[in-house]
Amino acid sequence: MWKKLLACGVLVLVLVLGGGFAYLYFRNPATASPSSVRIEPTEARLARGKYLYHYIGACGDCHSERDFTRFGGPVVEGREGVGFVFPPEMEFPGTVVAPNITPDKDTGIGSWSDGEIIRAVREGIGRDGKALFPLMPYADFRKMSDDDVYALVAYLRTLPPVKNPLPRSRINFPVSMFIKSAPQPAGHVLPVDRSNTLKYGEYLVTLGGCGGCHTPTQKGEPLPGKRLAGGEVFRTSMGTVLSANITPDKDTGIGKWSERDFLNKFYQYRRYVEQGSPKVGPEGFTLMPWLPFCQLPKEDLKAIFAFLKTQAPAYNAVETHPAELQPVVPSS
Ligand code: HEC
Ligand code: HEC
Repeated sequence: MWKKLLACGVLVLVLVLGGGFAYLYFRNPATASPSSVRIEPTEARLARGKYLYHYIGACGDCHSERDFTRFGGPVVEGREGVGFVFPPEMEFPGTVVAPNITPDKDTGIGSWSDGEIIRAVREGIGRDGKALFPLMPYADFRKMSDDDVYALVAYLRTLPPVKNPLPRSRINFPVSMFIKSAPQPAGHVLPVDRSNTLKYGEYLVTLGGCGGCHTPTQKGEPLPGKRLAGGEVFRTSMGTVLSANITPDKDTGIGKWSERDFLNKFYQYRRYVEQGSPKVGPEGFTLMPWLPFCQLPKEDLKAIFAFLKTQAPAYNAVETHPAELQPVVPSS
């Protein structure tokens, strides 16, 4: 009798565990059907969309081919939005590809509906209904207002279409299973009140993905108490860089910076945008989107600075370009 019971118990256990696993494995991400909106490309929208794409959203930083032999990795002429295969040194769990988001019909997003693009950007759902790998910052873009995401989509449609077939991302198991919990429907998002400097600053810090790069992680999880404290390591074949501490800690962060210091730090790179970025070696390699962000208006940088100043200071001394982590380049 007890043997039968035991067998039953084991069977139940197997079913429960197996069922739990099957649920995780086969479940679909949280998703809503794409909206049927048709976005009118007004002049105001195109201007706003350009700002969102090129400056605060820095979409081209991931979705374009870039020249990392130059400071800040400017986008290669004619390769805006054509997509990018992330190199293996970055140690992602599988092959991660930022797809072609030009309006090319076959290899880009030219045949997607406006609603499908909005859903991918804000909710992390691909055209096929599957979860996108969350390197695409949709958890941040979820907060993008309806007005802004409409402007962004209108602008995306004006990028020169470029035929550039790329493989799709291939995410290893079990990460492929866990990322299904990342997408969330965004619903309707109201515009942020720009006269509220802190709220506006928070909005820009969210869209700019500052937290994603500046918060150190362990096994993909943000370290508690270290939000914006820097030290996250980015390894590439061009060089290795660590993000800086941008909390208001006086000794190791930006606590002693004035608003003017902050603005100058960004605006020193404007001449690189205007005249072309200089050549750099690994010692000057960076992934900080200086070229996009140095084009932000003063009002925006001031709001970002004001918001950062209200964040919890965290002591964390970071060397952003430690010599021992740089690849050895033959001197020529
Ligand atoms: C940090 C890098 C990064 C940034 C910044 C980024 N993306 Fe992405 N994006 C990705 C990656 C990687 C994927 C693909 C994920 C996958 O394959 O699962 C993606 C997917 C997409 C897709 C879905 C395309 C498809 O074929 O499935 C769209 C649309 C998109 N991004 C638009 C944007 C826009 C617009 C912006 C700026 C507002 C942006 N992305 C910023 C990395 C990024
Ligand atoms: C793609 C990753 C990435 C994103 C996104 C990013 N940063 Fe950075 N940031 C870095 C790295 C790496 C460094 C260190 C190397 C350097 O200074 O170029 C850095 C440096 C900085 C510095 C210089 C600090 C110092 O002590 O010199 C400031 C200020 C800064 N970031 C602010 C921001 C703000 C504000 C945002 C969001 C609007 C942001 N960053 C978004 C990667 C990023």
